[in-house]
Amino acid sequence: MSTWRLILSTVGILGLVAFLYVACRIHRFSFIRRFGEKHRFLAWVVSFLAVAAAVGLFALINLYALVIALLHLFIAFLLCDLVGFIARKASKRNFGYDVRNIAALLLAAVILGAGWFLAHHVFETDYTFYTDKAVGDGFRIVEIADAHLGITLDGADLAAQMERVQQTQPDVVVIVGDFVDDDTEKEDMLAACQSLGKLETTYGVYFVFGNHDNGYFNYRNFTAAELRGALENNGVTILEDESVLLNDNFYLVGRRDRSSPGRASASDLTEGLDDTKYIIVLDHQPNDYANEAASGADLVLSGHTHGGHIFPAGLIGLATGANDRTYGTEVRGGTTFVVTSGISGWGIPFKTGTISEYVVIDVRSE
Ligand SMILES: [Fe+2]
Repeated sequence: MSTWRLILSTVGILGLVAFLYVACRIHRFSFIRRFGEKHRFLAWVVSFLAVAAAVGLFALINLYALVIALLHLFIAFLLCDLVGFIARKASKRNFGYDVRNIAALLLAAVILGAGWFLAHHVFETDYTFYTDKAVGDGFRIVEIADAHLGITLDGADLAAQMERVQQTQPDVVVIVGDFVDDDTEKEDMLAACQSLGKLETTYGVYFVFGNHDNGYFNYRNFTAAELRGALENNGVTILEDESVLLNDNFYLVGRRDRSSPGRASASDLTEGLDDTKYIIVLDHQPNDYANEAASGADLVLSGHTHGGHIFPAGLIGLATGANDRTYGTEVRGGTTFVVTSGISGWGIPFKTGTISEYVVIDVRSE
């Protein structure tokens, strides 16, 4: 069985269990139980329809939203049952079904509401890193990753965020992968590329591909070549296992994504670079830290993890070794690593484990 079939089967079974459990709990509301005393079958129908209608609303967003809403309802009911059980054992106080049901519905609503806000509101996250290398007056780099256009940001939304980025007066802007994915519309892709083209920076806008940019399937209404063309027509420089020297004091090294067959090693890419200059590596997926630290990179910028997106997915990513880091910064040897949670994310329009953000990094001489 393929990994995807295993995941889909697991989610399907879990979703069915969740649906049945939540419907059974709705059926325990006292007013439905009273109704069921005379209309037993209809009471069950009402319970199932209530859950179907509630989660069905999320299907209007997309299938992932429906699954996430259902699972959060399930977990909220389980949690409230657990708390009720502990309270009964500890204090002999019994919380009835009505109290636990209302608490569970409120809890799910608060978590999903917060998750919706955290996915759709874009924060600015600032870092300052110091170096003993000569970087003059320093420079400001803005990192944007995981726009996955069409999920929480369309082309116009991304353009609005680029106006915020412009306010930070960046010296260089880097797009670190997964700018688009399979569900992105061509008009959003074109509008987003145009907004990148309008950015006024000292050294330009640079782009590395993520695992979604070329598309996994074949149904979107533009090709990878059209994405490439739109970027280049708007003055964006694509780096594919290539480096550029900017202002004669820092390099940008853009790696092909880990999913690209035959990509160059980190050390191959930095070999021959002047190591007295500050070296920034752009690598969409944060999972080559040992080699990147050994390559002499000063700063490595990644995305891909969405900061965990839905709790506890980030912990699973770390536990399985899929990523070296899920979010934030880390120093290994002389290398500082940054993982952004992304300006948006794939598929799921909620973020319960993290925020949406763009990252503003100042590099200064010590
Ligand atoms: Fe990715």
